[in-house]
Amino acid sequence: MPTVVKGVISRTKNAPTELVDIVIPEPGANDVVVKVSTCGVCHTDLAYATGGINDEYPFLLGHEAAGIVESVGEAVTHVEVGDYVVLNWRAVCGECRACKRGRPWYCFDTFNASKPMTLTDGTELSPALGIGAFAEKTLVHEGQCTKVDPDADPAVACLLGCGVMAGLGAAMNTGNVGRGDSVAVIGCGGVGDAAIAGAKLAGATTIVAVDRDPNKLAWATDLGATHTVDASAVADVAEAIKELTDGFGADVVIDAVGRPETYQTAFYARDLAGTVVLVGVPTPEMRLEMPLVDFFSHGGSLKSSWYGDCLPERDFPMLIDLFLQGRLPLDKFVTERIGIDGVNEAFKAMEEGRVLRSVVEL
Ligand SMILES: NC(=O)c1ccc[n+]([C@@H]2O[C@H](COP(=O)([O-])OP(=O)(O)OC[C@H]3O[C@@H](n4cnc5c(N)ncnc54)[C@H](O)[C@@H]3O)[C@@H](O)[C@H]2O)c1
Ligand SMILES: [Zn+2]
Ligand SMILES: [Zn+2]
Repeated sequence: MPTVVKGVISRTKNAPTELVDIVIPEPGANDVVVKVSTCGVCHTDLAYATGGINDEYPFLLGHEAAGIVESVGEAVTHVEVGDYVVLNWRAVCGECRACKRGRPWYCFDTFNASKPMTLTDGTELSPALGIGAFAEKTLVHEGQCTKVDPDADPAVACLLGCGVMAGLGAAMNTGNVGRGDSVAVIGCGGVGDAAIAGAKLAGATTIVAVDRDPNKLAWATDLGATHTVDASAVADVAEAIKELTDGFGADVVIDAVGRPETYQTAFYARDLAGTVVLVGVPTPEMRLEMPLVDFFSHGGSLKSSWYGDCLPERDFPMLIDLFLQGRLPLDKFVTERIGIDGVNEAFKAMEEGRVLRSVVEL
């Protein structure tokens, strides 16, 4: 039987979100209905609401979720009713060119639910990142469910579903930070701070946090930064990073803002042959002009990180275990816990830089 539950939708561009009745269909063969426990509020939800992703309104927002498997389609083998899962938007297919080449984190044919969730009048909803979890229940593909240790607080565990994983993975997977490396992270929101925590976990000895907001720098220090640079107070951020790394520049610089000026800073703040990781998302009109010879003379690698190059089945359980062992302070990313009616307020708090993450508890 289809069920009717409450969910947060974005009906039209730039309008406030609305809490409405939505219909969850019976799961298709490989689908799973998940009773959502928690869902973090991510910038991408705001981007959907403001027309920054596409025009396929209405959207069912929310995509950083943890919950309990409530019912499964007849062919589901990956999870069982009652399993505690974190949802992901990289359910790899195993069949595309990237998967077959052994690089499944680049999979371009990831699985989603086979049926649409709808409004009560039958209007199809576009679930954010194929999830849609600011809702009491949601319908996903079984591959979008990753089982983790149920001892982990769902308000913490859900954060691995998007932004925190993107930051941790930008350092650990894409940047390949290792013991003794120096790392600089530009932009210390949820993603940048997760990159700092990832760099610390990977053994970096110097971790420079860069932001324009002193509050953010304090949080970054709490998460593992060894030095801070207030970008609003220094003339040349790249020079400041060099000074803090014995004049060399950092081995890995992570741009968690995604603007031409932060990318340029990241480029010049590296040691020779160092790595730049772009994890912040630029907008289409942004342009960058730099001398080509500098690319030649500085060498190294310029990479982008999509979802932290993560593999949910490999990374989520491991990171939850590290959290439960007290080696990765994922709980520090939860700034506030809110109700399902608090999403508009949470967007405001995010825009004003007052939170690392607001988490909806259902
Ligand atoms: N690549 C991915 O898979 C992925 C996944 C999730 C989010 N993201 C992106 O990561 C970026 C960061 O997300 P977030 O949630 O941390 O955002 P956020 O707004 O919380 O953090 C951005 C931080 O950058 C700082 N900042 C802005 N301009 C700056 C400048 N010129 N110099 C120094 N600091 C500056 C802000 O003060 C803020 O603290 C966004 O672009 C988001 O879309 C990427
Ligand atoms: Zn694939
Ligand atoms: Zn997200």
